[in-house]
Amino acid sequence: MTKTLDQIISTRRTVRHFDATKPMTRAELMPILEAGRLAPSAKNFQPLRFVVVLSEEERTKLHAVSQQPWFYHAPSYIVIIGDHDKAWQRPHCDLTYVDTSIALTHMLLKAEDMGLGATTVAAFDQEICRELLQIPEHEEPILILAVGHPDPAFAGKEGNPRRKTMEELVTFI
Ligand SMILES: Cc1cc2nc3c(=O)[nH]c(=O)nc-3n(C[C@H](O)[C@H](O)[C@H](O)COP(=O)(O)O)c2cc1C
Repeated sequence: MTKTLDQIISTRRTVRHFDATKPMTRAELMPILEAGRLAPSAKNFQPLRFVVVLSEEERTKLHAVSQQPWFYHAPSYIVIIGDHDKAWQRPHCDLTYVDTSIALTHMLLKAEDMGLGATTVAAFDQEICRELLQIPEHEEPILILAVGHPDPAFAGKEGNPRRKTMEELVTFI
């Protein structure tokens, strides 16, 4: 059954347990990557690119970037790389982090739409990642999206739905 956007936004949870019997395929990842490709960016500069880590050999190498045990069991990773030279520059910061985060969010929601599970990963060793993927100085591996088929044994038991209330979050003026 197709979920509405409201349902995707309100029911999506971070998934850190994956079904080991269901590897991810390139074809399954394409709609997710397309959602990232279509994301908006400041001035439409699109200062980003994605490296998909899918083969067992490359996934095993990528495990060196993280010490989070669940990370080693993910069947695919999308490394989101920002280009500080291409992003729109504001006086004291560039918009690379904003643009890459929006692209990641598009992909996170698309994965949910497809019945897949995903976790955004910021806690990883960027320098090891840079070396592994031979990322030049002007670029930065900013986030990794781990994607796979959710382990049914953990359905409804993952993620953290706690959010601020509307009163805590919003001021109308
Ligand atoms: C920018 C960002 C970085 C994150 N980094 C990690 C991470 O390194 N490891 C991890 O297990 N979860 C990570 N998460 C997942 C958050 O812990 C999770 O989204 C949050 O607890 C809310 O839970 P929910 O996604 O189920 O709503 C990250 C999420 C975001 C948005």
